[in-house]
Amino acid sequence: TRVAIVFGGRSPEHGISCVSAGSVLDALDPDEFEVVPVGITRQGQWVLASGDPGQLAIQDRKLPEITSGSGAELVLRADPAVGGLMVLDPAQGPRALADVDVVFPVLHGAYGEDGTIQGMLEMADIPYVGANVFASAAAMDKEFTKKLCAAEGIPVGPYVVLRNGMTMTEEDKQRLGLPVFVKPSRAGSSFGITKVDDWSQLDAAVATAREIDTKVLVEGAIVGREIECGVLEGEAGGAPEASVLAEVRVISGHDWYDFEAKYIDDACEYDIPANLPEQVTRQVQEYATRAFTALDCSGLARVDFFVTPEQDVYLNEINTMPGFTPTSMFPRMWAASGLEYPKLVNRLIRTALR
Ligand code: DAL
Ligand code: MG
Repeated sequence: TRVAIVFGGRSPEHGISCVSAGSVLDALDPDEFEVVPVGITRQGQWVLASGDPGQLAIQDRKLPEITSGSGAELVLRADPAVGGLMVLDPAQGPRALADVDVVFPVLHGAYGEDGTIQGMLEMADIPYVGANVFASAAAMDKEFTKKLCAAEGIPVGPYVVLRNGMTMTEEDKQRLGLPVFVKPSRAGSSFGITKVDDWSQLDAAVATAREIDTKVLVEGAIVGREIECGVLEGEAGGAPEASVLAEVRVISGHDWYDFEAKYIDDACEYDIPANLPEQVTRQVQEYATRAFTALDCSGLARVDFFVTPEQDVYLNEINTMPGFTPTSMFPRMWAASGLEYPKLVNRLIRTALR
């Protein structure tokens, strides 16, 4: 099976995507898969990258990056008439890297997890791992994630949507209370998010979020534990399956689970499985699979929750291409559920080819 691993990309999560791809490349069985490693630069240039996982790790607190010098430039033609993903290599004349059987877009955030590359692959008639165009776009956008999940009876916390130019009203502030989290509606890995403890900090926080997305969400903070659940599309058309749960505990130097705590500072401890009463575990798993279905997801998703001291469960967000880095929860939750990393990657690719 020929699989194109596509990574990097135009979103702020470029470096995380490279680290995720490194882990995926490492887990692919070379006897079973012929890999075509395709990097996308921050500017959107496609290159035939190195598939060496060693070059795709965090080193000295620095994330890897795909640049135009990372490999031969590729010109992309998404055209079913030429056999799907027709990739031309200008250096060697038109050369079809094509006839890949399947694409694994290990891309996080805009232009990767939001339905755009999925649309291109649909146009080219190439199978791909993960959510379709609609589910990708809906899950990327925290406003629509909440609306669709709430409509299915999944509890979500209080929030306000600030479209371009809008600010919070006094009523909004009264309703949410402090602290609040100010977030770009479409982003990941905590980029652009600020915790606001005093309303005087609000405008600056909204401006920070707007650097990433003109639409901003202000969420009332839910005091509770951070609990995550992996979901996989059911095998042979069955119901989606939930993994064991993970709890993220920020242990040192960070007020919340921000980017540095997540990836750089080693500031978190993870309990897998999470230490929760059986009934709460089952509730979270049920909400996770219901959310997967509510957004019409396929392949995989990681669904993130808060669980309050009263054991109330609130959905936080859905990631249709969750991190696959060595510290990422999704593969670790599945490993703890009995599906080791190589088996997980194998299943994702097989599901895409079904
Ligand atoms: N957006 C990051 C990669 C995650 O959800 O794991
Ligand atoms: Mg996310």
